[in-house]
Amino acid sequence: MDYSQLLNFILKYTNMLANRWKVSKMITPSKDFLPTIRKGDTEMYQTIAARFYSFIDSLSFSQEEKEIINVLKLEHTLRVVELSEILAKSVFDENDSEGMNTAKIIGVLHDIGRWQQMHNRSLSDTDSDHGEMGVALIIENNILDGIPENTQHIILTAIREHNKKYSDEFDGMTQMFVDIIRDADKIDNFFVEVKDYANNPLEKSMQKVLPFSDEHRLSHDIYDCIMNNRLADSSARKTKIDFKFFKMAWCYDIKLAKSMEIIREKQYIHDIFNDIQNPDKAMIQAYEKICAYLMPTSL
Ligand SMILES: [Fe+2]
Repeated sequence: MDYSQLLNFILKYTNMLANRWKVSKMITPSKDFLPTIRKGDTEMYQTIAARFYSFIDSLSFSQEEKEIINVLKLEHTLRVVELSEILAKSVFDENDSEGMNTAKIIGVLHDIGRWQQMHNRSLSDTDSDHGEMGVALIIENNILDGIPENTQHIILTAIREHNKKYSDEFDGMTQMFVDIIRDADKIDNFFVEVKDYANNPLEKSMQKVLPFSDEHRLSHDIYDCIMNNRLADSSARKTKIDFKFFKMAWCYDIKLAKSMEIIREKQYIHDIFNDIQNPDKAMIQAYEKICAYLMPTSL
């Protein structure tokens, strides 16, 4: 074997190892997932998390899909668990480990229906609502076995409601968990929007599902809702700019003071807006309206 053959062999071998590492990271979500079980996590949370992993591992996906799923849902889920814990700490007594535990269980399971949707090759909630689907899967797979019935009811309600139009018809405790998961989910969606948006696999996959136009304009319906402190209807989104403002307007749906504080501190709205080149007058007005709403006095 001469020098160039040896060099080729080394390069090929190194690439193979790198690919194998990359693929193994994608194939086995457990490696990404299990380390999040930390000292102090209750046995119940660990059991539920293991059942969740077992379920998602039982679904088969192609390599490309796994890469999207890792960014789209697994990382999102893990961040939502952390955010849920932070928000739960802000509303429950510091020593209320049960409250923290329930919030984290809801966090880890909240998008389980998305995995089934992806497995069915559809991310559309119009065809099959992923909140409802998640509740059905959790029941079908006995994921909450061992949890008291009233807590199971709270968990299932929060998961069912996390992607719906807001309702405040629940009892105090259930409402609190509904608010926590909805806020945690939105805060992480702001983060995803900001994080290398144009290049992440989520954006690419969403563009296939939701092909918005490149036109540089904010649709009047979305502008109008924002100026009246209202959420817009998703059907009003026509352009990529609409998509961004539709998401920024989620601030109007945030319920907890701690969530508002995180959104302000992380400057998510500022960063999403900053990504828009040459914003016109309507865009600037809409952005300023949302910023004004975010000011500490609005809650
Ligand atoms: Fe979701």
